[in-house]
Amino acid sequence: MKIAFFDSGMGGLSVLHHAMKVLPHEQFIFFADEDNVPYGTKTNEQVFDYVSQAFSFLMTQDVKAIVVACNTATSVAVQALRHQYSIPIIGMEPAAKKALDMDKNRNRVLVIATPVTVRGHKIKELIEKYDTESLVDLLALPKLVEFAEKGDFSSPAVEQYLQEQFAPYDFSKYANLVLGCTHFNYFKETLRRILPDQVRFVDGNEGTVRELIRQLDFHKGLEYLPQEVTYYYSGHKVTDPAELQRIQGFLDQLEKVYTIE
Ligand code: SIN
Repeated sequence: MKIAFFDSGMGGLSVLHHAMKVLPHEQFIFFADEDNVPYGTKTNEQVFDYVSQAFSFLMTQDVKAIVVACNTATSVAVQALRHQYSIPIIGMEPAAKKALDMDKNRNRVLVIATPVTVRGHKIKELIEKYDTESLVDLLALPKLVEFAEKGDFSSPAVEQYLQEQFAPYDFSKYANLVLGCTHFNYFKETLRRILPDQVRFVDGNEGTVRELIRQLDFHKGLEYLPQEVTYYYSGHKVTDPAELQRIQGFLDQLEKVYTIE
């Protein structure tokens, strides 16, 4: 059986990319809801409908677990989906706790995410629970998802947008930048260029894949198969060489930024 990775678009590939490294004998489905991306600027109801439709499709594909490799979809829909389906459903969590734990000097943490994630109850609960000294700030960066979907990770327009959004922050006070949207992993090179060296990048990818492995292991679901990935854009299987090449371009960028922290 296969493991499905689901995202609004190409951000979730960053989680799949990590999973492919640590699970070399599994078969994967990657489902990008390209018809409806971005999710982060829509209403919660819209996002919930998109995710429900995607899950109805994925459930016909004989999958043994689904990773919701999208912080926005996780924030809106994961709890309800876990009640509806019995297979393991693993979501993304902005790695704010990890960032707070990593820094014993209590510097500030900036979480960047989509507007839906930033206004969602999930992140508020996380902050209430772990940010006892009010060190965490939240910043919505909706345009970054649009840049990412166009494969634009480092143009002057991207850099200008980030510089403008970051202008109010004194980064000498920050030790960690939490990438609270899987699309944001593509920008590590640009972020590294414009932010001071002491600001480290923290994402939830490793933790999510660790949780996937833990749940598969618990359900005796790990397999030893030749690794394979089948890609879907919303309802249709990606077979067009130009579309496959586009996906490969994203995977190449992820390989390039994989070790940037
Ligand atoms: C988006 O579709 O707006 C991005 C989703 C996410 O990874 O939070």
